[in-house]
Amino acid sequence: MLTDAQKQHYQRDGYIVLPDFKSAADIVTLRARAGQIVNEFDPKGAGIFSTVEQEKTTDDYFLRSDNTVRCFFEEEAFGPDGGLKQDKSLSINKIGHAMHDLDPVFRAFTADPRLVTVARDLGLADAKVWQSMYIFKQPGIGGEVRWHQDATYFDTDPVSVTTFWFALEDATLENGCMWAEPGGHRGPMRERFLRTGDHVRMEKLSDMPWPDDSTAVPLECKAGSLVCFHGLLPHYSAPNRSAFSRHAYTLHVTDGATDYSPLNWIQRDASFPVRGFL
Ligand code: FE2
Repeated sequence: MLTDAQKQHYQRDGYIVLPDFKSAADIVTLRARAGQIVNEFDPKGAGIFSTVEQEKTTDDYFLRSDNTVRCFFEEEAFGPDGGLKQDKSLSINKIGHAMHDLDPVFRAFTADPRLVTVARDLGLADAKVWQSMYIFKQPGIGGEVRWHQDATYFDTDPVSVTTFWFALEDATLENGCMWAEPGGHRGPMRERFLRTGDHVRMEKLSDMPWPDDSTAVPLECKAGSLVCFHGLLPHYSAPNRSAFSRHAYTLHVTDGATDYSPLNWIQRDASFPVRGFL
């Protein structure tokens, strides 16, 4: 499916953008289902999601979302009185983390045979899909996602995690598109997110500084685009201060031939085994 030039681009830069991968109809269906999940969601006892102080903000609500479907609020969703500043449907940061296995509509979007081919072309002979997230990046309050590498959360030996990021709306500089450092995937893994039971911690592995806007590039893309990127590629996204949301759907995929760390925060067992795209 990928041309040799596309594969070389991926090897060199650590990411590739495939425009028009998903149809407008597929996007409408997924967005509608996400809207339903939020509509049915009871906010009592829910958590917020923040990547800035993740050890502190990680709680039972987050840890129990590993193999379920839960909604998380934006950090800035609440006013000083503790109430929502805007409608619930405009306050959710993301849904995670197992819709790809548990929700029929998300399952159908994920079970795309072309993804098997793309994954194989990127070096994943035996793709295993560990996590799905529906990211809202809400207008006005969509939070920053600080610089990180996705391999921090999905450690395998050797490194194999690859992110499949589907733009469900146009991603622009205004609404907080992703930024990445081309070629940065050839640098070291800087951090590892470790879970022991209900305790998590971030382990520092390297002093290599994060990139900044002088070497990073914005990954602006149209709705329907698929962005694939390497687990060691440093990336971040700025807060969304625009009047427009920036919905995206992501999958984190490893190669079954590698060793998946028993300290990764998402684990599966025989009762709910990790599966491929199909
Ligand atoms: Fe990420």
